[in-house]
Amino acid sequence: MQAFLSSSIPATSYSRSSFLPQPPQAPAKLAILPLSGPRAAAVARRTEAGRPAGRCVAASASSSPAATMKAWAYDAYGDASVLKLDEAAAVPAVGEGQVLVKVAAAALNPVDAKRRAGKFQATDSPLPTVPGYDVAGVVVKVGGGVKGLKEGDEVYGMISEKPLEGPKQSGSLAEYTAVEEKLLALKPKGLDFAQAAGLPLAILTANEGLERAGLAAGKSVLVLGGAGGVGSLAIQLAKQVYGASKVAATASTKKIELLNSLGADVAIDYTKENFEELPDKYDVVFDAVGQGDKAVKVVKEGGSVVVLTGAVTPPGFRFVVSSNGSTLEKLNPYLESGKVKPLIDPTGPFPFSQVVEAFSYLETGRATGKVVIFPVP
Ligand SMILES: NC(=O)c1ccc[n+]([C@@H]2O[C@H](COP(=O)([O-])OP(=O)(O)OC[C@H]3O[C@@H](n4cnc5c(N)ncnc54)[C@H](OP(=O)(O)O)[C@@H]3O)[C@@H](O)[C@H]2O)c1
Repeated sequence: MQAFLSSSIPATSYSRSSFLPQPPQAPAKLAILPLSGPRAAAVARRTEAGRPAGRCVAASASSSPAATMKAWAYDAYGDASVLKLDEAAAVPAVGEGQVLVKVAAAALNPVDAKRRAGKFQATDSPLPTVPGYDVAGVVVKVGGGVKGLKEGDEVYGMISEKPLEGPKQSGSLAEYTAVEEKLLALKPKGLDFAQAAGLPLAILTANEGLERAGLAAGKSVLVLGGAGGVGSLAIQLAKQVYGASKVAATASTKKIELLNSLGADVAIDYTKENFEELPDKYDVVFDAVGQGDKAVKVVKEGGSVVVLTGAVTPPGFRFVVSSNGSTLEKLNPYLESGKVKPLIDPTGPFPFSQVVEAFSYLETGRATGKVVIFPVP
């Protein structure tokens, strides 16, 4: 089962230089072609501050890179079929404190699907949306005030600081995405782009949840949903970073061996046993499934139940992850030493052309680790 861990990416499937393009600076001469009708409105909405409100095309045949890019986008909420490949989406402008990242790999998260379904409309950015929070790629342009990053740096991160509060309209399922420097970290040495792309949102969630729950050395933890994107990292962080004395986790039968290989001391097959009926109690219960009502039954007196989704039963609590590059930097040594390993779902990585299929797969709720999009585009 160790084969699941970080080994599903063919080492020779890309070369670094293949996605080290010139920055997509505006061509020497631009013509602004006025658009009309709904398409014009869509382009105008998609156009960010400082960019001309129209389609920019090169006035003359030039070898300069275009100011447009390929991106997956939707302009109405719905199921995966609303996703359309836009061959000429606007490359996002690079704001103060931001860098432009040439996306090498991206990853999907359930929040991408829930957002696309319209679950967070009240606080969403305007449509059309280019989805995607997780990115790994290369810095190709640096905005004002950027101090730490430079062109050519290989980075990874979660592109929106608050994923549910006005997240970026132009996400990572595109050739380029603009990201605040403070949300990025240098890609861990020894990991490729596909591996790095699968980490940010999930590892930040696992870390923030365990931290908020007060997990510390010598304490025990039960991870519900241990084979998923977040759970697989929660098991590893609990053991390797927080020094938990005992890590238990749940999954279905075929994934029990995987839980052990991730470091779980106790692997509970939820198709055969109800964890809430077992005698063991835990200092921390980390619920990545939405079983908050059952989770509170197995927490010790004075312990913590952190719930990522679904209803919250006291004393359980829920939080929404925040993006933070410095936390990724702090976790990098564990990733570089191999103590914590990315887990890429072996069905993927899905090439950029198969983003719809990748979403459909994620939405089965059966993914093992992360659903990664690679290569991009
Ligand atoms: N609040 C936040 O900030 C935050 C952040 C990240 C994620 N989330 C939420 O947390 C949830 C998990 O996210 P994720 O990225 O880890 O999802 P995911 O990767 O899609 O999770 C899939 C995994 O869930 C497991 N699973 C499904 N039902 C289960 C059950 N009854 N018991 C045990 N395992 C079960 C599946 O294993 P089997 O095939 O073995 O069933 C599968 O491996 C999602 O609802 C997501 O939206 C919230």
